[in-house]
Amino acid sequence: LATHKEPPAILKTKLQLPVKILTSPGPTNCSERVLQSLKNQVLGHLHPEICQLMDEIKAGLQYVFQTNNRLTLVLSASGHGGMEACLTNLLERGETVLVVKSGIWGERAADMAARIGVHAEVIETEHTSAVTLEQLEIALRRYNPAAVFMVHAESSTGLKQPLEGFGDLIHRYNALFIIDTVASLGGEPFFMDSWGVDAAYTGSQKVLGAPPGLSPISFSPRAETKLLQRKTKPSSYYLDMTLLGNYWKCFGNESRVYHHTASATLLYGLREALAEIAEEGLRASWIRHASAAARLRRGLELRGLRSYVKIPQYQLSTVISIELPPGVDDTIIIQRAMKNCNVEISRGLGPTVGKVLRVGLLGINATFDKVDLILRALEILPSKL
Ligand code: GLV
Repeated sequence: LATHKEPPAILKTKLQLPVKILTSPGPTNCSERVLQSLKNQVLGHLHPEICQLMDEIKAGLQYVFQTNNRLTLVLSASGHGGMEACLTNLLERGETVLVVKSGIWGERAADMAARIGVHAEVIETEHTSAVTLEQLEIALRRYNPAAVFMVHAESSTGLKQPLEGFGDLIHRYNALFIIDTVASLGGEPFFMDSWGVDAAYTGSQKVLGAPPGLSPISFSPRAETKLLQRKTKPSSYYLDMTLLGNYWKCFGNESRVYHHTASATLLYGLREALAEIAEEGLRASWIRHASAAARLRRGLELRGLRSYVKIPQYQLSTVISIELPPGVDDTIIIQRAMKNCNVEISRGLGPTVGKVLRVGLLGINATFDKVDLILRALEILPSKL
């Protein structure tokens, strides 16, 4: 006899969720305009309205990435999908990727590369300082990689990797330049074309301020050439940038070629999030993030707290890491901040667990009000513990 499972009683309760102030390294809160857009009824993924929306999103992404790349689109995935898409499309089995590791994300990239049969050579930096052009050049000479992977905003450490000059250097060694901008895009200056970046991706839930679930990505003409010259297909169908480019009508194709069913709802949210950044202007957004971060750092200093990253040039505006004072329990701080101020502070991630607290000032939360709230939430530190 077939067993009959009863409907779960738990689903009879009404969905009720709190509103929290999300000032971790992500996700961040969505604006009212983005939230409103999510209430629209679902439309078919190839309906004309959605095709129009995809074109609008593409234009918005070309603006935030500062690129003219035609192969600019959105993956139905989190930022990890963007990382995997870069590696799986731009490297073939047996090739070498040079990974700059300054925290958890380089480590993930090296892991992903190994899973697709790509040889990962890793240059490790101290967590609080970025790789220099000289260090990278030595590694390029030694390993002769097909691509270099770097992280613009290492959210596990709060480290900003300066990127100017790297594109030219990497191209001189005939390699492709891949950048993770998950925790920076929209909040830190980034110039994809001027800096010679061949592949960049981000996450919808960070500075852009849309719900999680989408990963905007862009490939340069040089990256496109690599796609054409591949001897084998990328190992992932879902993340195949040529198929996705046909779906997003990136190659001047007459019509879109169905690839998968993207979430119309998430696209509404991203479209509105990009419209808001376009209205504010990228430069204004960068300044707002930098001013909020500067106020937070000043407030932290006044409370005797120190930034984990000491060199100003390497300090991110979007994710601020704070040294955990000796004897202070990060879990207690984090719980108290939520309980007393409804505000989210994160613990370290990967190599920084137990060493830092992390604050994200992303999108609509990069304001003085939110900074002051975070500082109030940290008042309990460290003397009152
Ligand atoms: C996630 O992206 C994090 O940095 O916590």
